[in-house]
Amino acid sequence: MTICARIRYYTCHRLIAAVVISCLVTTSVLLVPLVSLLSRSIDASQVKYGYKLTYKTWLDHLCPRSQIRNAPAQQLKWEPPSAQTIFFMQTSCANALTAREACAVESFAHHHPDRPILLLMTSLTINHTNPVMQTLLQLPNFRAAYLDLDVVFSEEPLRTWHRDKNWLFVEKRAGMALSDASRSEILRRYGGTYTDLDAIALRPLPNGTNWLAEFYGGRVTAALSSFLPGHSLFQRVVDAIPRVFDPYACCSIGPDLVTAEMRHLCPDTFSSIVTEDLQGPAVCSDITVLPISNFYPINYEMGPRGFSQLLRSGTGQEFLKNTNAYSLHLFSSLTARDVLYLGGGSILEEVAKKYCPKVFKIQRSISDVI
Ligand SMILES: *[C@@H]1O[C@H](CO)[C@@H](O)[C@H](O)[C@H]1NC(C)=O
Ligand SMILES: *[C@@H]1O[C@H](CO)[C@@H](O)[C@H](O)[C@H]1NC(C)=O
Repeated sequence: MTICARIRYYTCHRLIAAVVISCLVTTSVLLVPLVSLLSRSIDASQVKYGYKLTYKTWLDHLCPRSQIRNAPAQQLKWEPPSAQTIFFMQTSCANALTAREACAVESFAHHHPDRPILLLMTSLTINHTNPVMQTLLQLPNFRAAYLDLDVVFSEEPLRTWHRDKNWLFVEKRAGMALSDASRSEILRRYGGTYTDLDAIALRPLPNGTNWLAEFYGGRVTAALSSFLPGHSLFQRVVDAIPRVFDPYACCSIGPDLVTAEMRHLCPDTFSSIVTEDLQGPAVCSDITVLPISNFYPINYEMGPRGFSQLLRSGTGQEFLKNTNAYSLHLFSSLTARDVLYLGGGSILEEVAKKYCPKVFKIQRSISDVI
C-alpha cells in the first residue's frame, strides 16, 4: 500500500514536490561548503611537475606558462641579499637573461670582485644550456636565487597588498609593479645595492651607503641605489605603496614615489638638489644624491633616437677616456626590442668589450647584436 493511496491524489503530488524541493535545497546547502572544502584541500596540495604549489600562488598568476619540470633539487632557492650584496631582479619569468642583461651583471661583478653579486629571478629554474647563463654561472662571485615574493612580502603592509594580488589588475604592468615594490621592500628589510639590468658598470660604485641617483624630470630613482637595512626612506616608500599604488597608471610606485618620500625627508633642500644642474653629490637627510651624469652619461632626453649615440662608429674610446660616470644606462624599456649592433668601435661595443668581456665574447660568437 503506497502513501499516495492513503491520501488524496493532489495532496500527494504536492507532498512529493515539497519533499523533492527541500531535498534539493538541503543538498545544495550541504554540498557547496563540502565542494569548496574539497577543492581547497586539493588545490592546497596541488602537485605540479613534482613541485608543491599552494592554491593559486602568485607564480601561477605572474608566470602562467612557467613549466616546472626539474626536480626540486635543481630549483633555485630564495636567498636575501646582505648589505654588501649588489643585486639584480628579473621579474619577467624568463629562465635566462638576455646577453645585454648578462653584460650588466658581468660588468658589476667585474668591478666588484669582492662583493657578492646576486640575481633574483621569478623563474624557479635556470636554463643551464643557455651559453650566456653558463658564462655568468662561472663568475666566482655570482649567484642566482629565486625571488620568492611570498617571503619578500611576508611583512605588513605589503603582505596584504601582495595577498590581494593588487599588482595583477593590469597584467602587462605586473612585472614592473612587482619589481618596484619588491626592490623597495628588499632594500628596507635587507639593505644592499640594487641596480637595474640595463646598466653597464664603468667603474666601482661609490663606497658610502645610503645613496641613490638623480633622474630626469626633477626626480630621483632607486634604479641605482645602495642602502643599509631599515632606512627611513624605504620604510616610508613601503608604507605608502598600498595607499598610492594605481594599477592602471604607469609607474605609480617607481621614481615618483621615491621622489615624493625624499621630499618629505628634506623639504628645504630637495627642490634645489634636483632642479639645479647637479655637478657633484648632494646630501638630503642622511642620503647622498648622485648627479644624473654619474649614471646616465648620455643624454636620452631626445627619446629613443638618443640611443644612436651609443652605436656611432669610432666614438667608444673617446667616451671611455672622458667619462667619469659609474655606469651607462641603456633603458631596457625603450630599447628592449631594438637590435643594438656591436661593431665599428661604438660606445656600446667598447664598453661591452672592456667591462663584460666574457659575455661579449660568447655573444660575438653567436651574433653581431646584443
Ligand atoms: C635554453 O636556452 C637555449 C639557448 O638559448 C634555447 O635554445 C633553449 O630553448 C632554452 N631552453 C629552455 C627550456 O628554455
Ligand atoms: C672604496 O674602498 C676601497 C677599500 O676600502 C678602496 O680601495 C677604494 O679605492 C674606495 N673607492 C672609492 C671610489 O673611494
